[in-house]
Amino acid sequence: MPHPPSTLNAIQQAALSRGIELDRLPVHLATIMDGNGRWATRRGLDRLLGHQEGYRTLRGVLLDASELGIRYLTVYAFSVENWRRPEHEVRGLMKLIETAARNELRLMHQNNVRVRVAGRIDEVPAGLRQALDHGVQTTAANTGITFTLAVNYGGRAEIVDAVRAIVREGTPAEAIDEETIHAHLYNPDIPDPDLLVRTAGEMRWSNFLLWQGAYSELVVTEATWPEFGTEHLLDAVAEFQRRTRKFGGLS
Ligand code: IPE
Ligand code: IPE
Ligand code: MG
Repeated sequence: MPHPPSTLNAIQQAALSRGIELDRLPVHLATIMDGNGRWATRRGLDRLLGHQEGYRTLRGVLLDASELGIRYLTVYAFSVENWRRPEHEVRGLMKLIETAARNELRLMHQNNVRVRVAGRIDEVPAGLRQALDHGVQTTAANTGITFTLAVNYGGRAEIVDAVRAIVREGTPAEAIDEETIHAHLYNPDIPDPDLLVRTAGEMRWSNFLLWQGAYSELVVTEATWPEFGTEHLLDAVAEFQRRTRKFGGLS
């Protein structure tokens, strides 16, 4: 249903004025938050300061996405491959994610955000695991945007974990179909991402949402994640609305 202009908030007004149709938003936006390191290095700063700036960006994007009316936001915060980085950076990232999870919980809860996690959470430091569990439990009944933090996440690892669970249940081979795999993913109730945005120019998937992203529309920005703002988000949504999705059929 078209919104009467008077009830629109600032970002919806901005979206409308650049031709975005508010009844055709991506339901699920996923982002590969890349380029924090380059943002910092170019400024002669420690890479961790880039991640700190990336956290600021994420606060803004979550708020923007929620106010715009996007129902699901999933962000790639740490991949199963990111353990290969120097210990200083890995430790700093774990601390940053834990601090962010603790500091933002109250505001997210006030804003009716439902928090989820995706990844091998049993392998992250105990403090971070507890902070994430607490966030998920506290916000479980919220009805606003569903915000999923992918931590120690790998698309291949997720499929391996699903297959293990299916085998453990003793499911006969002939009974396994796409629905079975889907039902054993980390968050089977969350719809597939419609729009996948990657910042900082790299045209690759880097093991994110391999199953769910099969038909996501991809948008890659030159802006790094710390530089990504409301304008970039609206550009990506506008680009999404110019695409023709066919899912293998004809348009
Ligand atoms: C993305 O930024 C954040 C994480 C992977 C945790 P990077 O740290 O990958 O930044 P670049 O790609 O080195 O610039
Ligand atoms: C993907 O970015 C992982 C996250 C954003 C958390 P990377 O920077 O790790 O990806 P590659 O190594 O460039 O493919
Ligand atoms: Mg990177």
